[in-house]
Amino acid sequence: MDKKITIAIDGFSSTGKSTLAKQIAAHLGYVYVDSGAMYRAVTLYAMENGFVSPTHLDKEGLVSSLPDIKLEFHFNPEAGFGEMYLNGQNVEKKIRTLEVSGLVSRIAEISEVRAKLVEQQQHMGENKGVVMDGRDIGTVVFPNAELKLFMVASAETRAQRRFDELTQKGETVTFEAVLENVQQRDHIDSNREDSPLIQAVDAIAIDNSNLSREEQFELVLGLVNEATQL
Ligand code: CDP
Repeated sequence: MDKKITIAIDGFSSTGKSTLAKQIAAHLGYVYVDSGAMYRAVTLYAMENGFVSPTHLDKEGLVSSLPDIKLEFHFNPEAGFGEMYLNGQNVEKKIRTLEVSGLVSRIAEISEVRAKLVEQQQHMGENKGVVMDGRDIGTVVFPNAELKLFMVASAETRAQRRFDELTQKGETVTFEAVLENVQQRDHIDSNREDSPLIQAVDAIAIDNSNLSREEQFELVLGLVNEATQL
């Protein structure tokens, strides 16, 4: 049998990382972990407890409340992936709004938040057989991952994908607002001091602007097969 490996998928916002990660995890019988969902859940907690809004951030208050934040993934067989639970509540829907997207990168800059989440993520990947997507998976969380991918696509392509996704869910948003959010998050994520979004030296870049889901899946499956046989 092929050995179990760790697959790290990083990249800019809305590059289709989670779609790919879910496909690969389902195909291999691996665990899929959406690390962005964890940053989004902490952001939701911060919003609901008055630590962050579009006009303020109480970093000290949030940091001292971190021990009160319990994050768990519960596998939903119908959805086919682990849904995000914050202090026992399913927050899968709430964390995907543009409101949360507008604040999450500010929360993800806080080193104490990152340290807490990275520790949990490393714990989840201890036994390998995991596909994790995010911004710092190949650089910080699993620097020794056997396969590292770095996903890119043009900002317009990405904003269009996210716009379609949100409107399908019934959210009222404009394309311009989504594009602005995607660009703003890319900027903050790439320029922050702690664990900025950068391509790991040993990551393979995939530009999927012009690839269908199936083409991308086939391409990555080939890379997975190579990595598991090494
Ligand atoms: O799915 P999308 O591309 O919109 O982003 P996400 O994966 O849900 O991540 C949301 C935000 O969380 C990112 O814009 C980053 O600010 C932060 N994040 C991070 O800093 N590190 C990670 N490993 C994952 C997400």
